[in-house]
Amino acid sequence: MLIKTPRQFSILAACMLSLLSVVAVELTLYLSGVTINQRYILMMFFVLLILCYLIIYYLLEKLITQKIRLLYRTIHNFKINRGDFPLNMNEDVLGKTEKEVLVWVEKSREEIEKLKLQEEFRREFLGNLSHELKTPIFSIQGYILTLLEGGLEDENINRAFLERASKGVDRVTGIIEDLDVITKIESEELKLNTTKVNIVDLAKEIVESLEIKAQKRNVSLSLDLKRAGYQEINVLCDRDKVGQVLGNLINNSINYGVENGQTEVRFFDLEDNILIEVSDDGIGIEEEHLPRLFERFYRVDKSRARNEGGSGLGLAIVKHLVEAHGQTIDVRSTDGQGSTFSFTLKKG
Ligand SMILES: Nc1ncnc2c1ncn2[C@@H]1O[C@H](COP(=O)(O)OP(=O)(O)OP(=O)(O)O)[C@@H](O)[C@H]1O
Ligand SMILES: [Mg+2]
Repeated sequence: MLIKTPRQFSILAACMLSLLSVVAVELTLYLSGVTINQRYILMMFFVLLILCYLIIYYLLEKLITQKIRLLYRTIHNFKINRGDFPLNMNEDVLGKTEKEVLVWVEKSREEIEKLKLQEEFRREFLGNLSHELKTPIFSIQGYILTLLEGGLEDENINRAFLERASKGVDRVTGIIEDLDVITKIESEELKLNTTKVNIVDLAKEIVESLEIKAQKRNVSLSLDLKRAGYQEINVLCDRDKVGQVLGNLINNSINYGVENGQTEVRFFDLEDNILIEVSDDGIGIEEEHLPRLFERFYRVDKSRARNEGGSGLGLAIVKHLVEAHGQTIDVRSTDGQGSTFSFTLKKG
């Protein structure tokens, strides 16, 4: 018989003890030549059995409760009172505890891994941040020093240098504002003001606001309404936030587009959602970069992106904003041929 529960153990131990005692008594009586009615012996066996059982059961319950309570208190990190810990002597207490300890070990291991990852992430983040801020701050410092050392009186450079210093300040401000947005979203301070929004209208507005920038780079912006066939597509979202998403994506398509390039915003009707695509025929992104593209400060080609003045925060914000709506964003791209960013929104 396989002993699993404390009760089974008590019964077996009590049986063995009483049997041994009876055999010992019988042997002593036999050796001393005394005969006694076997009924008394049988009675003695049962009385012993019950007494042994009760004593063993009581001691075992006390011991297990004491030890296991201590163990539970350690692994669950809280105080367990006697009443809070009902011990069932009919179940495999030790097996159950072993399982709980194993689960606890696994959970602790996962927590440690998570903490290690967070630590690594924090270190990388601080490194990136100081690196990003260093560049514009050093350039501002350079221009101001030149102006102080006599440049201020030089009509040929004073204005231009001040303008460049001011651009540097804009860049630092931009990075800090972006970080502020990310921090707010991550600390869940960001509240969505969800309303019914005509996404075609919103996209038109964003396209119009970026038209001048696009013209400067000879990129044409358009909305593909023919394919969708509607002028009005309603979705449930926070208008400002989705405007920011579209703005960032279209802005990227202009920054990383080619001369005479084309950017198109398209809409597709999925069952419960509307899929919105921002597609360009620009420089594209190599496949190896795609999985990390939405990370903070991630840029594909640092020197190439730096020309555009980007800090790699745009897509991190976009992803956060789309996910705050409970939706997902995706990218497909072929290096040299163009990229398509697509995200979904719930139909309104
Ligand atoms: N449409 C696109 N075509 C090609 N590459 C792109 C496109 N969009 C983004 N990328 C690449 O992804 C990188 C990350 O984009 P993201 O918008 O996050 O940062 P950024 O544009 O460099 O800076 P920011 O948007 O913060 O000013 C860019 O540096 C660029 O290399
Ligand atoms: Mg960008």
